Amino acid sequence: MRNEETIYLKDYAPAPYRIVSVDMEVTFAPEQCRVRTQLTIEPLPATAPGTPLILDGDELRLTSIAIDGAPLVLSAYEATADSLTLHEPPQRRFVLETDVMVEPEANTKLMGLYRSNGTWCTQCEPEGFRRITYFLDRPDVLATYRVTMIADRTLAPVLLANGNPAGTGDAGDGRHFAVWDDPHPKPAYLFAMVAGDLGVITDSFTTASGKAVDLGIYCEHGKEGECHWAMDSLKRSMAWDERRFGREYDLDVFNIVAVSDFNFGAMENKGLNIFNDKYVLAKAETATDGDFEGIERVIAHEYFHNWSGNRITCRDWFQLCLKEGLTVYRDQEFTSDERSRAVKRIEDVRTLRATQFPEDSGPLAHPPRPDHYREINNFYTATVYEKGAEVVRMLATLLGEAGFRKGMDLYFERHDGDAATIEQFLKVFEDANGVDLEQFKLWYLDAGTPTVEVADSYDEASRTYRLTLTQRTLPTPGQPEKAPRVIPVRFGLVGPNGAPTTWSRVSGDVRDDMVVLTGETTTITFEGVANRPVPSLLRDFSAPVKLVSPLSQEDQLFLARHDSDPFNRWQALQDVAMALMVDAATLGRPWTEASASALADALAETATAPSLDDAFKALALTLPTEASVARTIGVDVDPERIHTVRRALLADIVKRAAPVLEGVYHSLASTEGYAPTAAQNGRRALRNAILRVLVLGGAQGADALAAEQYAHATNMTDRADALEAVVLAWTPDAERLLADFRLHYGNDPLVLDKWLALHARAPDDGVVGRLRAMLADPAFPRNNPNRLRSLVGTFGMSNPAQFARPDGAGFQFVASFVADVDTRNPQVAARALTAFRVWRSFEPGRRSAAEAALRSLEATPGLSRNVADILGRTLAPS
Ligand code: BES
Ligand code: ZN
Repeated sequence: MRNEETIYLKDYAPAPYRIVSVDMEVTFAPEQCRVRTQLTIEPLPATAPGTPLILDGDELRLTSIAIDGAPLVLSAYEATADSLTLHEPPQRRFVLETDVMVEPEANTKLMGLYRSNGTWCTQCEPEGFRRITYFLDRPDVLATYRVTMIADRTLAPVLLANGNPAGTGDAGDGRHFAVWDDPHPKPAYLFAMVAGDLGVITDSFTTASGKAVDLGIYCEHGKEGECHWAMDSLKRSMAWDERRFGREYDLDVFNIVAVSDFNFGAMENKGLNIFNDKYVLAKAETATDGDFEGIERVIAHEYFHNWSGNRITCRDWFQLCLKEGLTVYRDQEFTSDERSRAVKRIEDVRTLRATQFPEDSGPLAHPPRPDHYREINNFYTATVYEKGAEVVRMLATLLGEAGFRKGMDLYFERHDGDAATIEQFLKVFEDANGVDLEQFKLWYLDAGTPTVEVADSYDEASRTYRLTLTQRTLPTPGQPEKAPRVIPVRFGLVGPNGAPTTWSRVSGDVRDDMVVLTGETTTITFEGVANRPVPSLLRDFSAPVKLVSPLSQEDQLFLARHDSDPFNRWQALQDVAMALMVDAATLGRPWTEASASALADALAETATAPSLDDAFKALALTLPTEASVARTIGVDVDPERIHTVRRALLADIVKRAAPVLEGVYHSLASTEGYAPTAAQNGRRALRNAILRVLVLGGAQGADALAAEQYAHATNMTDRADALEAVVLAWTPDAERLLADFRLHYGNDPLVLDKWLALHARAPDDGVVGRLRAMLADPAFPRNNPNRLRSLVGTFGMSNPAQFARPDGAGFQFVASFVADVDTRNPQVAARALTAFRVWRSFEPGRRSAAEAALRSLEATPGLSRNVADILGRTLAPS
């Protein structure tokens, strides 16, 4: 049965035919769109005569078919909704002409051709093109495309597709047409069309070699003024890719279209990126600093795909991290160069730990390059993206900036126009640097997060310091044995007063400031060390591992004050807070007065340190999340206890540090006009982080401070952050302010999302009831992915104590949501279901409540392959 099929990497074989070029004519009409396609096809030289040609389809209806202009007899082919077979195609180049009808209006899956707010648009990655026409819908089939679009002039004055414009004209009956030509051979997943009545802002960019590119950003009429930040981000991205990677844009036009109904963040279609409008539209009154930064990042990411993804694409979907991991690495570097490198690194590691680490230690664990899948849509994961980016970053760390760049240059030179593999990617770094990456490749093939355990000793008599690092990776589904990996551990030895420690001799696998682990255990011996140093390990988070180090609280706080590596200064504070919370939650042993005070003092000192930037301080003042405490505990987790313990620690910090924090809060007030710059952003982030600590820690007068900030805020960042503090603490103002927010912003869907997401994070016992009621409201936009994700996605991922209520109501709420949404949009449903990946880590009562919810979902008839796949893996015996 198709639904049960597992696809294996080892079975990869090229298609027996290739599609050289595509000529499409699409006629748009409200009920049905007609798609006429002419495919120029030829057999591969090795293809045996009589080999059938099987094209993919999905919910298609064929209305006519011909080869080289001659209609086919019924016996020559077989057409179903999901495939078209030519039993004996010609053994030479031929043109296959098909005519199919599709129904965009009824397409609630938002894959293929669909309609969002009246605009026709497409989403083809990974397997959506087959919902538009019959095709070899796989990324190693590369063709040039010519597309003619015909539509009513009033309904769709704007007609866009990939490539360069190649003519427009009148099509009679009040209709017009536009022709688009894409000269770059591309896989079908990069195909795109947009037809609708849209506003636009335009600009232009001149490439380093002097070519002018017309830029356009399209959106709903009236929102043009909210597209300028996106345009600015686009131009900076284009300039950065030239500077950092020597990559220029390669068409005459680059268009971006913002749509309201979109399953993901955005899509890199060649020359015509389609975006979730949340990653395009922004103005100070309605968008937060985080929204502005998100737009900048996503615009950059999709633009960078033009080289890492489009010019060099993937041979098959197992290689997805070839384009996604690399492009995330590139967008991370862009943000680091545009803003603060240290802050960006901390934010990225927080994301990695919050999303990828739990995936990697649970039932959905898989390698960055998996070797089998049932449903490819379920592999757009934190492992492919975030861990994929970390693996690329390790290559850059191991090879150095220049060596990495040499490899990238060779990659672009050698593979431009190819559908490539991870092996080919690694080979360019080997060839450009004369190194062997055989063992390094395990990072792509193995799942699981290695633990690196540290032991050290200092011998005063011989002035010798010894550091021993041991790596271990636990089994993951299907991979019981794990071989040691190459782990770059950047380090420093910090001496008295923070001065770097010097040594006269060192032995072991060490170069400059980096230990490279290759075996299970490595010992490094430093001789001629005058004083016992404090080791600062895994600087800048040089590898995606869990570091277990024996440092005392005192040593950690020493590093927090003195480490020259900002990442480890931040990490040290996190580790101190984590240790207190973990002990209190598991041993029932509260921290001592002395240790809480030491932490509070270090935080206060950080908040006032003149040498640190505000955004960094904001991160330092943010304690590890409840979810990360749960992850550290790992087994028999009681999320409610963690919630209580975290609030108690905040209260103790506030008891001691409130006056200092309040002082900093007030000193940061500003009357400057809003700008989404890194400097302003940092100042607001710090001020609002302090407000959050004060409110959650129950500082006197903090509720009033938050209410006042909410009322007088002149931008959305300050308003939303004040509201967040109040909602997370569930103060007596919470419901009133939520209602006020709704009243003021309820008409703006993107701001409504913030309101929904805040509701979803409320810590009180009424939250599940309120969320149920909102979803049940007939006016709730139940087909819009952003609204659904804001409400249910946020609840499952960011409200651990209520999601895992002991009575199971949180689990049941998410499970029944999944069953319902699955009937309309399986991708959104499957994504929401991944919240259960941590279910086995709960204490027995919650564990069985979670299992009961999963079993009831399992009993639902007609589950999609998307949901069935996630559910099956989530429930599989561990
Ligand atoms: N190619 C993806 C879009 C995509 C995602 C297609 C999932 C099919 C399935 C795009 O380049 C992407 O990665 N978008 C991200 C945002 C990005 C900044 C990481 C997204 O949509 O979340
Ligand atoms: Zn991407």
